[in-house]
Amino acid sequence: MKLKSKVALITGGGSGLGREIALAFAREGCAIGVNDIRPETAEAVAQEVRALGVDATALPCDVADSRAVMKMFAKHMGDLQALDVLVNNAGIAFVEEHVKRNIEAMIQEIMTAGRTTRSAEATKTMEDGHWRRTLAIHLDGTFYCTREALKIMEFNGWGAIINMASIAGLTGIAAAPDYSAAKAGIIGFTKSVAREVIGRGIRVNAIAPGYIDTPLLDPLPDLMKQMVVAQTPAGRLGTPAEVAATAVFLASDDSSYFVGQVLSPNGGICI
Ligand SMILES: NC(=O)c1ccc[n+]([C@@H]2O[C@H](COP(=O)([O-])OP(=O)(O)OC[C@H]3O[C@@H](n4cnc5c(N)ncnc54)[C@H](O)[C@@H]3O)[C@@H](O)[C@H]2O)c1
Repeated sequence: MKLKSKVALITGGGSGLGREIALAFAREGCAIGVNDIRPETAEAVAQEVRALGVDATALPCDVADSRAVMKMFAKHMGDLQALDVLVNNAGIAFVEEHVKRNIEAMIQEIMTAGRTTRSAEATKTMEDGHWRRTLAIHLDGTFYCTREALKIMEFNGWGAIINMASIAGLTGIAAAPDYSAAKAGIIGFTKSVAREVIGRGIRVNAIAPGYIDTPLLDPLPDLMKQMVVAQTPAGRLGTPAEVAATAVFLASDDSSYFVGQVLSPNGGICI
């Protein structure tokens, strides 16, 4: 077992990639604090983890709320008494209705004319609240949780922090300036903190997945999903298990010389 007797906290662990990472870590012997903004999904995944024979606690909280994050870490330590691995994974991808319609029109045009002169028109019309909420969950949440985790990990002299970025942070996605900015920010944050804390025995790395088959993709127009698959050399969406395997690698000593790196399981859509 690669993570035997370790303890992890995974944000957004109630669905998709976070749930799969929680189960993959549990199979490697790791106890899990399962965070999610939806209490019932955090509890459901904590139960799935316990069924695999390791300890788990549900940690419902909004990672964009710094005080709530402090309380969450206190509860995690009270319930599980240790923290070796943090996975900053919680996230949303909100696409407004008019942007979805614009994307569909763009794809139709590409399919009929081979190119498009249209735009997703996402930035000009984006409300402050939309922009702030995306940055708050992804970027502020990653900072708040990392800040709390470092206090514990520095004391222990060992730790692994894994930040969930995206290919959106590497190449940009035309319809999602907020999401792309947040993910690029997470990559910069990862590299900075990795340099800061490696001397204390803590490794910080990021995963930048391509398009993975989880509920996060549900709001995307079907045509866009088809287009994504067509543009992916592997010819399919990724599976949560393929990302979870990357997380197990980055959490374990197998990746002991990986510091501030961005691993991108993406089927070749971004090389
Ligand atoms: N699925 C993909 O194609 C893909 C690609 C690249 C990156 N990602 C990233 O992976 C991460 C997980 O996404 P997923 O695909 O599993 O999506 P998902 O929707 O299945 O899961 C995200 C989870 O995060 C939780 N969450 C949302 N806001 C939260 C908050 N403020 N506090 C705590 N929990 C919150 C949700 O309730 C949900 O359970 C996200 O950061 C996402 O941006 C996903």
